[in-house]
Amino acid sequence: MPARKPAPPIPDLEPDLTPEAARAAHAALSEQIAEADRLYHQEDAPEITDAEYDALRRRLEAIEARFPDLAGTGAASASVGAKPSEKFAKVRHAVPMLSLGNAFADAEVEEFAARVRRFLNWPEGEPLAFTAEPKIDGLSLSLRYEDGILVTAATRGDGEVGENVTANARTVRDIPERLVGEGVPPLCEVRGEIYLSHADFAAINARQEAQGKPLFANPRNAAAGSLRQLDPAITAARPLRFFAYAWGAVEPAFEGTQSGVIARFREWGLPVNPLSVRCADIAAMLAHYRSIERQRADLGYDIDGVVYKVDDLALQRRLGFVSRSPRWALAHKFAAQEAFTVVEGIDINVGRTGSLNPLAKLRPVTVGGVVVSNATLHNEGYVKGVGGDGEPIREGRDIRVGDTVIVLRAGDVIPKVMDVVLDKRPADSQAYAFPEACPACGSKAVRAFNPRTKKPDSVRRCTGGLICPAQAVERLKHFVSRNAFDIEGFGETYIETLFEDGLVRQPADIFRLDFEKVAASLAARRRALAEARARQKEEAARAAGETLKPVKAAKKKEGERQLAIENLFAAIAARRTVAFPRLLFALGIPNVGEVTAKELAKVFPDMRALIASVDAAAACRPGEGWLALDAVDRIGSVARDALLDHVAARAEAGEPGDGLPPGAVKGLGPAARENLVAAFGEGEALDAALLRAARERPCAAYLGFAEGASDVGDVVKDALIDFFAEAHNRDAVEALLAEVTLAQAEAPVASGNSELAGKIVVFTGSLERMTRNEAKATAERLGAKVASSVSGNTDLVVAGPGAGSKLKEAEKHGVAVISEAEWLERIGAA
Ligand code: IVH
Repeated sequence: MPARKPAPPIPDLEPDLTPEAARAAHAALSEQIAEADRLYHQEDAPEITDAEYDALRRRLEAIEARFPDLAGTGAASASVGAKPSEKFAKVRHAVPMLSLGNAFADAEVEEFAARVRRFLNWPEGEPLAFTAEPKIDGLSLSLRYEDGILVTAATRGDGEVGENVTANARTVRDIPERLVGEGVPPLCEVRGEIYLSHADFAAINARQEAQGKPLFANPRNAAAGSLRQLDPAITAARPLRFFAYAWGAVEPAFEGTQSGVIARFREWGLPVNPLSVRCADIAAMLAHYRSIERQRADLGYDIDGVVYKVDDLALQRRLGFVSRSPRWALAHKFAAQEAFTVVEGIDINVGRTGSLNPLAKLRPVTVGGVVVSNATLHNEGYVKGVGGDGEPIREGRDIRVGDTVIVLRAGDVIPKVMDVVLDKRPADSQAYAFPEACPACGSKAVRAFNPRTKKPDSVRRCTGGLICPAQAVERLKHFVSRNAFDIEGFGETYIETLFEDGLVRQPADIFRLDFEKVAASLAARRRALAEARARQKEEAARAAGETLKPVKAAKKKEGERQLAIENLFAAIAARRTVAFPRLLFALGIPNVGEVTAKELAKVFPDMRALIASVDAAAACRPGEGWLALDAVDRIGSVARDALLDHVAARAEAGEPGDGLPPGAVKGLGPAARENLVAAFGEGEALDAALLRAARERPCAAYLGFAEGASDVGDVVKDALIDFFAEAHNRDAVEALLAEVTLAQAEAPVASGNSELAGKIVVFTGSLERMTRNEAKATAERLGAKVASSVSGNTDLVVAGPGAGSKLKEAEKHGVAVISEAEWLERIGAA
């Protein structure tokens, strides 16, 4: 065994990850997650384990933590689960069913508690209780009781809309038809987990086997498959169980504590988990986690961690939610598992943006009960064991074909190659030569230099752009995908086939397809596949000295195929009218994920308006001189602008540069000046660099681009500019616009009736009764946008003690200014 550091339980983020690479990784992860969500929630047929899934999610979150610009972008951002299957009636959840943030290490639990304290401004010594309970590995269910009587049961679906499984839920013995006892509220949505015991799972599988039916992979899948049955008689024959642990809409709202509500649930006849306890501090939470972990094997049902929740409901309300999960709860998952195996090959997949993504093909190995045969190798630097700028990330140990490696899956499964066992490396092994050409189109593949980070991108990308078939196909797959145009039935094989046959080369082509040609193309592909298969069989038979009996061609499926194509055309027709955010997201512009697309659509009514603004911003995009200045440490935007004003004023007056004597620019401290000198030199060199920065300064159209949209930073802005700078992209968009119509924008939900909806609010000075984060979150919940500076567009300034320049700006623009107390009154939280 080589000496190596103990592996952390979760994949760490590479220290050298550049924004570019992060963006690419984020997009790829996001897609993987969305697909996994679909398979898990819609098909009950996951292809990756929960641990693999968690690993993906956690990497996504780690990336978002380091690159907040990416947060909320991507296919997997806001959606929880997957959209409900078509076979059940839909139920819109009055209160969305969300998900939980994850942690693996104790330190992350401590960080969670600290985050909660910071958000609430809760003093260090002041006690703050949490509940701790098992995280049941089943599927969540929302039960709506009106006057104590069960009226609807719905699955989570995509978190907003679930499936109506009331008839099935009624067959579950744990679920009471009627809530009994004191204080049952007139409306009460009880939420909890449907699960199967190990014993019942084994019995169901034994029965499946006896009947020659496919076996369920695990109790969770069996539970999901049993609940999501069209025939309630089948559900009734499967002994599903239920634990209640949360709630949705309740009127009148619950008061008091989480533990108090759970106790009431029990009194009303709902099953609650016996291992749910109230913990006075972190030590007690972690102790309970260990205790549950010890009991895990004997519980008789699957759990995959422990859930902590802030006990006080008033605090839960203040903490609220962030994107897909509550700030007041955390899932502390059980640890990752490791195994040794051998790298049998390294494949390169080409992504939508041309990224060359290395994938290790592993000798199949079981890690925590799941067979792993692929693992991501992230990027070139990861394979080589060096970071983007030469920093070692595995202390110089590269990964080679033939190497014995340690594979890690968080929770129960995925695959990340953590490390290499050097003393098992074959003597004749060769370092992996990362391709410098695209394996799909042969174009040069390069690692671009990023002027903002001054580092080469860690991702190598194919420069083939339009001519690269792999990129084009990936872009089209993205275009039709669920969160984009959502063209049902347009699977990967269809896209690949129609692309190869030249029927679909760009999105607009989808709307110009000819039925007969599509049918012919798909039929030809099917024939080719069948012939290849037959040949293979024949060869195998010949090799074994057997003769094959002639097989009759299967005719029966023709009708089904015809129907599938008809359905596809119907699905395409149904998407000729599309909401602007979907259209925008579907274009696959790097960094314009779903949330960003929605944000942009709030500011721009349509594509033309967006393009006009992008063009204006492009015309005065900052040059490298300005970016170099912007990258100098310890210079805030105010000092930077003052500095540039100073330089520009001298230049305009025909005066030479002044070498920036100390004190020449107000607000520019000695440390900042020192950094400037370190970056550009002194005297004339400094003058020249500053003058260049002043000349290449972006204008208001760039700086103020998409003002009011909360997710649009420089990265997104640059991505939009780059995208529309390409004539072929514009052409593709124009062609598409000729085929589709924009749907009317949806009115903002939930927050629509708030008087703050759509208002731009600025907080300044120190707030005394809430933290800045809490203030921002509350305002956003009510539909307001929170801006960091005051302009003519600002509607309201909330000023606390110590407010300065923003107050003056507010006066200048005639913007209303209120105190924190007035704000709290206005939002009804006084
Ligand atoms: S609380 C607002 N408590 O885990 C979030 N969830 O990963 C309310 N789950 O969707 C969820 N056991 O399906 C909560 N004791 C527990 C749980 C639990 C299992 C599931 C639930 C949720 C998922 C989040």
